[in-house]
Amino acid sequence: MISKDIYQAAEWLNNDAIVALPTETVYGLAGNIYSEKAIRKIFEVKKRPHNNPLIVHVGSKEAVKEIASNVPNIAWQLMDKFWPGPLTLVLPKQSTIPDSITAGKNTVAVRMPNHPDILQLLAILPFPLAAPSANPFGSISPTSAKHVANYFDDKIPLILDGGNCKNGIESTIIGFENDQAVLYRLGAISIEHIEKEIGPINIKNFEENTPSAPGMMLSHYAPKTFSVIATDLSDAIAFYKPKKIGLLLFNTKINNKEVFHQEILSVKGNLTEAGANLYAALHRLDALDLDVIIAEKFPDNELGKAINDRLKRATVTKDFK
Ligand code: TXA
Ligand code: MG
Repeated sequence: MISKDIYQAAEWLNNDAIVALPTETVYGLAGNIYSEKAIRKIFEVKKRPHNNPLIVHVGSKEAVKEIASNVPNIAWQLMDKFWPGPLTLVLPKQSTIPDSITAGKNTVAVRMPNHPDILQLLAILPFPLAAPSANPFGSISPTSAKHVANYFDDKIPLILDGGNCKNGIESTIIGFENDQAVLYRLGAISIEHIEKEIGPINIKNFEENTPSAPGMMLSHYAPKTFSVIATDLSDAIAFYKPKKIGLLLFNTKINNKEVFHQEILSVKGNLTEAGANLYAALHRLDALDLDVIIAEKFPDNELGKAINDRLKRATVTKDFK
């Protein structure tokens, strides 16, 4: 059931249930981090492998001390700059954090989200919230209450409607190895923005088979419709015609009768706006019963990097020559 009742959501969460909540990035499927029952349900409902750890959501920087220990100075610096906001930090965990949250790792991922509804909830609840994105494992992330309802309406008691997610792409994940910041997942805060704050950071190889963050797995964020990424759109369209084709484009519609539908992510050519519209556009394309979605490659800077990363995981790469 979609609802705007924050107190009802709190009541369910206080009673070991899981509810979907809005954040500034994507909707999360949330539960009390200390409730084994709630955490089990999160994994069940999402059909998420148990070796994939969850992000802990806190309502303040202070609350990090309950979750993590030996927090490096650069981590505090990043919190000061970017929290509340779409930055997740992987830190050494406190022994009180259940293994089910961290998949047995000695680190824990934590962030303070920037959405009034979840912040209000975190202020009234006596515990932090574990919340993976509210989609079945591997499929397109939800950026509206309706997206969540399409996935899970009959499986969870409440979906808190906080409108469309402002950032629309998951948080950036940073860990610390030998006191150096390491990027584990591209996300709503660009590498450029983080490096402006703390200097050059290491980028972990995203193509690894045993990634530090399973969100980095190659098939993820994927529509049900067969999807490809194309460096040359006309070659790709010529290859698939006369099939029913949908396009996912940055800023300009193309003039081609062979195409059934086109989604433009930012008419102004703004990459942040494009990121905010990415998943909603993919959801719309996926509902059109297309034979193929052809996505264009985005400029590879700022948010374009995160968009290309998600598109790469959502599609297969093909050479149309
Ligand atoms: O924006 C977001 O981060 C959203 C909203 C709901 O907060 N959440 C989200 O959660 O994207 P999820 O579960 O879909 O992705 C969490 C990622 C996974 O790739 C997971 O492997 C990684 O965080 N992660 C969690 N704990 C980790 C840890 N201790 N070390 C490395 N990666 C970790
Ligand atoms: Mg996810």
